[in-house]
Amino acid sequence: MKILAIESSCDESAIAVLDAWQGRDFPKFKILSSVVSSQIKLHAKFGGVVPNLASREHAKNLLPVLDLVLKKAGIKKSELGKKITVLAVTEGPGLIPCLVIGSSFAKILAWNFKLPLIPVNHLEGHLYSNWLEHGSDIKFPAICLIVSGGHTQLLLLKDAYSKKLLGETRDDAAGEAFDKIARMLNLGYPGGPAIDRVSQSGNSDAFKLPRPMVNSNDFDFSFSGLKTAVLYLVKKMAPEELVEKTPDIAASAQMAIVETLAKKTIKAAQQHNAKIILVAGGVAANKKLQEYLSAQANLPVYFPPKELNTDNAIMVGMAAYFKFLKSKNKSFPWQKVEANANLNI
Ligand code: KG4
Ligand code: ZN
Repeated sequence: MKILAIESSCDESAIAVLDAWQGRDFPKFKILSSVVSSQIKLHAKFGGVVPNLASREHAKNLLPVLDLVLKKAGIKKSELGKKITVLAVTEGPGLIPCLVIGSSFAKILAWNFKLPLIPVNHLEGHLYSNWLEHGSDIKFPAICLIVSGGHTQLLLLKDAYSKKLLGETRDDAAGEAFDKIARMLNLGYPGGPAIDRVSQSGNSDAFKLPRPMVNSNDFDFSFSGLKTAVLYLVKKMAPEELVEKTPDIAASAQMAIVETLAKKTIKAAQQHNAKIILVAGGVAANKKLQEYLSAQANLPVYFPPKELNTDNAIMVGMAAYFKFLKSKNKSFPWQKVEANANLNI
């Protein structure tokens, strides 16, 4: 079936067209076209995403992005209703003004072309992005670590559909910690990629930073203490010293985040006899996390392909197909779709 998927939960206006079908053992996907219009430059000036500016950009960008996606997929706008089987859109979680623009846009398309509209949970999008390249390797039970700008969650998957939340962050998400620490180090926005880059020339043992809750008896996380520890460290330094020590501070903070994420993920995998570990979300792009978790875990660890780590619409289309398979004959009317900033997985 051909899926046209729309993502607008934060600062990327993204649309993709994909083909999805049930392979012998697992769902398969072929990407026909995908466009991501990023607003990073706009928000960088403010050091983070400004929700109202972001929604205005989505309203401006979604139609040109649709034109481009259809052109790349070789579909005429007038044929959309015939060439596409189903539409999909992120309904949450995310920034409400942004979700409202994307879901309204999708509803108008569904109404006009008389197509079903599948509402998708953004976090399920991140999770299922792993099936694009690793579908044949995914075995159950599996542990999935979702690490994005807004969420840090550990999930237990008994199969592709049954997800149990084992734990999550009690304060800042891992991506948020990267972004806030990067701001203290004057590294700009988004902070994760900047810290990843700068850390390569730093010493991760240079500063002893806390690993909050790393040994707690649950699967929750907390990153605000680490953020405060970095703030105190930075405040004590003269501007020149801060510039000189930035790679070491970045590398030490990155190691504290990576070690905490990895230890809890491995503990969850051991406790639930997981066969594999999946990682997803923007922070899954982090090189140290990829290297450290793969080396420490005694079982296969999979990450999505590079272009699927951060927000995109391909993952929304993939999650929609899983939802379609699970729901059997549900008709997915557009009237049922409602943006929800706090949607749970
Ligand atoms: O999944 P995502 O694109 O958006 C949300 O759903 O939130 O994740 C964005 C987050 C940002 O906090 C960004 O700093 C972080 O992912 N990120 C990284 C890297 N690339 C993106 N964090 C660490 N290392 C990276 N290479
Ligand atoms: Zn995301």
